[in-house]
Amino acid sequence: MNFCTVHAPGTVANLVCGFDILGLCLNEPADKMEIKLLDERKIIVRSADGYPLPEDPALNTAGAPLLEMLKDIDANIGFEVLIHKRIKPGSGAGSSAASAAGAVVGANYLLNNRFTKQQLIQYAMFGEKVASGVKHADNVAPCIYGGITLIRSINPLDIIPLPAPDLFVTLVHPQIEVRTADARAVLRQQVELKKAIRQWGNIAGLVAGILQNDIDLIGRSLEDHIIEPVRSILIPGFAELKKKCLDAGALGGGISGSGPSIFMLSKDETTAHKIEDEMKQVYTELQIDFHTYVSKINKDGARIV
Ligand code: HSE
Repeated sequence: MNFCTVHAPGTVANLVCGFDILGLCLNEPADKMEIKLLDERKIIVRSADGYPLPEDPALNTAGAPLLEMLKDIDANIGFEVLIHKRIKPGSGAGSSAASAAGAVVGANYLLNNRFTKQQLIQYAMFGEKVASGVKHADNVAPCIYGGITLIRSINPLDIIPLPAPDLFVTLVHPQIEVRTADARAVLRQQVELKKAIRQWGNIAGLVAGILQNDIDLIGRSLEDHIIEPVRSILIPGFAELKKKCLDAGALGGGISGSGPSIFMLSKDETTAHKIEDEMKQVYTELQIDFHTYVSKINKDGARIV
């Protein structure tokens, strides 16, 4: 077999309190990627939708991970990748991670799955480095494993897949671009101890809530005292939208990854759609174009279709 198609889904990183260490996988939005095995040591990445992509694969979020993978392969092979981009770059919904994870999942399939998921995450993080200047795994790990993942450490890599509760995710993407690198540059480098204590209480509460399937504990742990107060300033309507969604019955939520997308978790589909209506109303009133998605937590991650 020398060709495959990959469904590479979006992801929500951070899950409010877990900056760089927690993430979940969505069903929608998702990219489609077509991957071909070549008989020369070459990586080619092309866009099916006319997005301008860097010619040098080392500067591309799908190309850089494949170049790293090739270093561990002693054979005259390469890959050609055609990306159908549905997850907008700069949306906070894991666009770069979908390209990086989708590329390595597809390439691995064409190599009879010779690499483990942990190895694929190691390769995929090189794509995140291209996109944001730093390696982080809170999008690529849930994209590759599916469900919810905890990244205890990236060096050495220590990923803990968590059971995914049967919750619904509502996501709104206001059509403004926030580059992850910029959203990281605004963060303070020091954290006050009393804020850190509240933050790690919430992270522990969230992980315990996920493990015990305690939905109310999950909801009350979705609080962020460190990142959200700084980054939310970059997102028009954030405070109003969050309040309206909580009043409408959302368990909790906040900035998706580095924004500007905002996500909310709900117990059932009816509430998830009510939340979607609230989101639509806020951005319609602000006259900002937007897209909304309602999705269950995707338990499979990137997959061959
Ligand atoms: N954890 C990263 C950040 C995710 O918040 O900068 C970027 O999608």
